[in-house]
Amino acid sequence: MSDRLDAFLSHRGFGSRSDVRRVIRSGRVTVDGQACRDQARHVQGGQVRVDGVPIAIGVSEATVVLHKPLGYACSHDPAEAPLLEELIPAALAHLPLESAGRLDRDTSGLLVVTSDGTLIHALTNPRRHLAKRYRIRYRGALSSHAISRCAKGMLLDGDSKPTLPAELTLDGEAGAGDATATLILHEGRYHQVRRMIAALGGEVVALHRDRIGGLQLPADLGPGMARLITAGELEQLVHGGQGPGGRPGVVPQRIS
Ligand code: URA
Repeated sequence: MSDRLDAFLSHRGFGSRSDVRRVIRSGRVTVDGQACRDQARHVQGGQVRVDGVPIAIGVSEATVVLHKPLGYACSHDPAEAPLLEELIPAALAHLPLESAGRLDRDTSGLLVVTSDGTLIHALTNPRRHLAKRYRIRYRGALSSHAISRCAKGMLLDGDSKPTLPAELTLDGEAGAGDATATLILHEGRYHQVRRMIAALGGEVVALHRDRIGGLQLPADLGPGMARLITAGELEQLVHGGQGPGGRPGVVPQRIS
């Protein structure tokens, strides 16, 4: 990945874009040994120094597994803070990371955040039917046909097409009049779990995603924690999930 010099320095703690432009104009920055006053210069593999001190280039691509806590928004809009990007390790903060799919502010659980556009496409392309597992706590009595309605697909208010076949398991009582269920979806529509449970007669009171494809939310990741994905986890993520009828959950064209 190639960064402009001003973005490169800003992402490495030298202040806002206007702060770093002042630093660059003052002649304190060199690229490959030459003073550089061009804030738009692209820095790709070059050695950048400020006041003679080398600045680490850092990684240029990363994929992160993150346990989204309740209350955080999958957005870059500061008005919606707190944001996922606040949970990203500082060493990766310079990367243009995007989450592959979203969770609502009131949903917790597994998210994959990456700078790899091909991976995002592989994980979110609706034709690939990647399996995502949700643990649900709900209030109310679900229709006696809830399981078969999920399995057949249901037309939700405002949608033009029925949902893809989904697997609902009723897990049992959870106290205080609530019950728990597990729902495996193979697509990702707006508020889909909440809308499906509402259409079946219930109200979701807590929602948590604990698996994408074949990747389970890692046990070492507490709420709010994020770390680089391992090679084994990436393999589970893209090759481990099963779509309806046993089809592979996702078959990416290229994973870098
Ligand atoms: N379905 C929802 O209703 N919310 C989520 O965050 C994910 C799936």
